[in-house]
Amino acid sequence: PFGVNSLAKLTEEEEMLRESVRKFAEEVIQPRVEAMDEAEKMDKEIINGLFEQGLMGIETSEEHNGAGCSFTAAIIVIEELAKVDPSVSVLCDVHNTLVDTVLRKYASKELQDKYLPKLSTDMLGCFCLSEPASGSDAFAMKSSYKKNDDGSFTIDAQKMWITNSEDADFFILFAQGDPSKGYKGISAFAITRDMGVEIAKKEKKLGIKASSTCTVQFDGIQVPKENLIGEEGKGYKIAIEILNEGRVGIGAQMVGLAQGAFNKAIKYAYERKQFGKPVASFQGMQFQFAEAAMKIEAARTMVYNAARLKEEGRPFTKEAAMAKLYASEVAQSVSGSAIEWCGGMGFTRETGIEKYWRDSKIGAIYEGTSNIQRQTIAKLVEAEMGL
Ligand code: CAA
Ligand code: FAD
Repeated sequence: PFGVNSLAKLTEEEEMLRESVRKFAEEVIQPRVEAMDEAEKMDKEIINGLFEQGLMGIETSEEHNGAGCSFTAAIIVIEELAKVDPSVSVLCDVHNTLVDTVLRKYASKELQDKYLPKLSTDMLGCFCLSEPASGSDAFAMKSSYKKNDDGSFTIDAQKMWITNSEDADFFILFAQGDPSKGYKGISAFAITRDMGVEIAKKEKKLGIKASSTCTVQFDGIQVPKENLIGEEGKGYKIAIEILNEGRVGIGAQMVGLAQGAFNKAIKYAYERKQFGKPVASFQGMQFQFAEAAMKIEAARTMVYNAARLKEEGRPFTKEAAMAKLYASEVAQSVSGSAIEWCGGMGFTRETGIEKYWRDSKIGAIYEGTSNIQRQTIAKLVEAEMGL
């Protein structure tokens, strides 16, 4: 099928993973997409299925029940899931690229041994950075912690917009321990729901409705000293370094979304006849298909390139920001055109195409808005040019 594709140098393992995820997405997810969107709720069967398929610890080592695959493999999974449902895609994306990765990269062996095996098999995770008064300015957080005499911590935090939180049992939490140090007072913690975490409010949204987005309350919760992730005061660096990787994941989600909308709309346009011919046969339509296909290809190439740069240990922050920014623009433009290619039917819920367009809007907002990506790119270009 179109868009599978012309990318060079995917390994045999990565290609096989793509095939198995595609099968799972078409057989298990596709039949549930519309109902989940209407109900604004993720079907538990899908979460269970993702765990059973080994898609919730993609880069986690086999020793910790994971699949031990590459970062690009995770990107492929996110892309394939988004072709069918961007909500399922972001659930898997956050769990793998934000939650698992924080533990794999920064946590003690003890914390890794304790949580990674469960995160690979049945415990859903989420990433708690944003707050009501600090979104783009994420390091201006009000959530705070206090160190107790025995070295444990008391945390008071309110986090907003937390993806997966409705079904999650594990929370990566960022809190400020000493405001006088600015962002160098922020630390990261591993929290489980049974420590006293409460879901305060679930948002009703324009798109990715099946993905839960809630305000999460951590009121005076007691956290053992071992649950500090990395060093105290290094939480800000953990947050942004993880987000640099996560942004490649959102790029992949947006590429998959664009491809999913494109594939569905093209199929309809070849079946739909006007003036005695399939509407897809008119040159006015074909030029638009060509344009959209080219944009998807460019976005996908940027996403995979950023992923490979990261894997090779080379600088990739600028490329990740560019890939996320561009892929989210492509997703909006292609899914918008896809509605038009289907005429009135594209505007109805029946074809499932309008959902891609609603879902595409989030790409320019989460994991850093498009302006934040532009700011990141501009700073790095300046630095590269020695300005
Ligand atoms: N990579 C590595 N380090 C970075 C960095 C990057 N992209 N951007 C900033 N930093 C570091 C700087 O080097 C500096 O650290 P040092 O002093 O140790 O050198 C520190 O961060 C502060 O830098 P700035 O003063 O330039 O940054 P700032 O305070 O103006 O803003 C930021 C920094 C909060 C990271 C901002 O650039 C940003 O990215 N905001 C968006 C926040 C975000 O992405 N939130 C996502 C929440 S999770 C989510 O959304 C998940 C989901 O939906 C699915
Ligand atoms: P604001 O920061 O208030 O931005 C408002 C506008 O101002 C934007 O257009 C922005 O680009 C612009 N702006 C702000 N600062 C600048 C600047 N310096 N220069 C130019 N323009 C600027 N967060 C988590 O921690 N975990 C999650 O799992 C998570 N999931 C999310 C899921 C959904 C569905 C949504 C909607 C959000 C999620 N978020 C999550 C939060 C998300 O990361 C923030 O919404 C995002 O970072 C933007 O913050 P904000 O909403 O406060 O917007």
